Amino acid sequence: MLIDLFNETWRELEDGTKKYGHPFRTCSLATAEISRGIRQRTIIFRELTKKKTLLFYTDLRSTKIEQINKNPDGSVLFYNPSIQLQIFISGKIKIHSEDSLWNDHFMNIEGRSINDYNTQYAPGKPIKNPIAVTRTKDLNFAVLELIPDTIEYLKLREEPSGIRAIFKLQDQEWNKTFLVP
Ligand SMILES: Cc1cc2nc3c(=O)[nH]c(=O)nc-3n(C[C@H](O)[C@H](O)[C@H](O)COP(=O)(O)O)c2cc1C
Repeated sequence: MLIDLFNETWRELEDGTKKYGHPFRTCSLATAEISRGIRQRTIIFRELTKKKTLLFYTDLRSTKIEQINKNPDGSVLFYNPSIQLQIFISGKIKIHSEDSLWNDHFMNIEGRSINDYNTQYAPGKPIKNPIAVTRTKDLNFAVLELIPDTIEYLKLREEPSGIRAIFKLQDQEWNKTFLVP
């Protein structure tokens, strides 16, 4: 039973990146603020790697990069309303810039996506006029890799009283336990 939930989790994540319109296509990424507190933002989930890590793209100058550099702990939250499934994943986030993984993804940035990484000034900088964003030829592209160590599965409406489980990576094995929902 626990193994079914565990397998469903990875299947849903895989579908999130492969099936058009799947709700796991986006998630909320949380990182630690530099001063104190947590910052969350919506982000597109790009790929589930063979190593079962999660990849995201971002601008290398965005605030989250500074936060991750200071504290690599992070988490993502997914929700699929059609099956009322919530998946929480936490772990360490690695920033890729100009390494081989980065290069594989950088090659695929084209069309309108280029504009996600080419503003002259860093994302989040105050501007007077939103239509006067200057762009450059440089792409400040980074890949974020979340390496999971904890996953929580929750289906609150599942009969008879909901299903909640936690999967924890210990000594390279995923330990699986049910939790009170
Ligand atoms: C639907 C949607 C998808 C988004 N996808 C991404 C993304 O893939 N990468 C990204 O860096 N920001 C993405 N954003 C913007 C972030 O939510 C956020 O505003 C931005 O990355 C700046 O975050 P930061 O200042 O905390 O670094 C997306 C926003 C929305 C609404």
